[in-house]
Amino acid sequence: MNKKNNLKKKDYSQAIILAIDTSCDDTSVAILQNRRVLANIVSSQIELHKKWGGVVPSIARQAHRDNIERVYKEALKRARPKESDLDIVAVCYGPGLAIALEVGIDFAKTLSMKNNLKLVPVNHMEGHLLSPFLLNSKGNGQAKLVNNFFPALALLVSGNHSEIVFVKEIGDYEILGETLDDAAGEAFDKVARMLNLSYPGGPIITHLAKRADKSWRDVKKGRLERADKKPEQELAGFFGLPIPMYNSGDLNFSFSGLKTASLYKIAQLRKEYKLDKDWSYNFSREFINAISLSLQQKLKKAIKLKPEAKTIIIGGGVSNNCYILRDISLLARKNNLKFLKPDRAFRSDNAAMIAIAAYYQLEKFNNYLSGEKIKELDRMPNLKLS
Ligand code: KG4
Ligand code: ZN
Repeated sequence: MNKKNNLKKKDYSQAIILAIDTSCDDTSVAILQNRRVLANIVSSQIELHKKWGGVVPSIARQAHRDNIERVYKEALKRARPKESDLDIVAVCYGPGLAIALEVGIDFAKTLSMKNNLKLVPVNHMEGHLLSPFLLNSKGNGQAKLVNNFFPALALLVSGNHSEIVFVKEIGDYEILGETLDDAAGEAFDKVARMLNLSYPGGPIITHLAKRADKSWRDVKKGRLERADKKPEQELAGFFGLPIPMYNSGDLNFSFSGLKTASLYKIAQLRKEYKLDKDWSYNFSREFINAISLSLQQKLKKAIKLKPEAKTIIIGGGVSNNCYILRDISLLARKNNLKFLKPDRAFRSDNAAMIAIAAYYQLEKFNNYLSGEKIKELDRMPNLKLS
């Protein structure tokens, strides 16, 4: 038997974990030791999917197949261990695109069986949730002391998920609210398409919003007082975009109404103005505000529901948004809560977050697959956090 399989629970802190994520349109392999990221290689497929306006699963699968070996080798080269130095293999097995997940799972199975290594299956959303706990290669990071952050409320906002999770402690999750239709990132991507922008929409809309009028806040208030009969808090700004699910009373999200309102508003603005640039900067800023206010409203409810929470954690691709990040951090501060966000490199999909989730599964629960059990691992496209 390989000596690696003798690793006892107490040894996991020094274990070299190789993690893989192929859940969507990024092929990623990372290497982690004691929460320190030794390598995190992400091969993006954006250029391949761009012309289709979104991720095409069959194209994603082929690109993962074409790239995974190269990304794996690059990660080993960057982190400098040899294949024989690896202790653990971790892989994302859901949620995500079934045929894309399969590529990473097959690669992970082959690697762990060939080297007689334990395999840790990881939930992609747990990866996003724990991404703020990653440390850089020098051992620095926002969350050096893990103990004082829990219980916490996690706001997970990505291209396919929007949810608020009560985290009693790492590994103990309760979903308090989730989206009833589109995810926040998806709303960004779809509205970007309406604006004839490229994919993914989030970064481009953010870029446009930075060119909004400096006095955007004043304009917003003035117009609201004059023009709108609805109470101010239901509208996100002077274009009258609604704040999704503001008064729904629960902690769920829904972004399809905002999407439809955006569609009509854009059509109206295109009739009124010659050029999109005459209104699209302010519109983008207001669209972000609508999403942010919706997220804030639900978080406020969650804070009331779980007064024991000590921290707000944010994770997922939408956490790249500087306005949303700032709004949520302010909300945390106002409520005397700590605020944890992933470092820039770990906000969008990456395998380092899969590695950190595996690290805690081993550290806390000694959870892994070995031997014949590895062969049985199957992808779970609709996997939930619970
Ligand atoms: O977490 P992620 O990388 O992949 C999934 O698990 O889905 O999230 C991707 C999503 C995309 O919808 C993208 O438009 C959005 O994150 N996104 C942003 C920003 N950067 C990426 N949304 C808003 N603002 C951004 N700056
Ligand atoms: Zn993701």
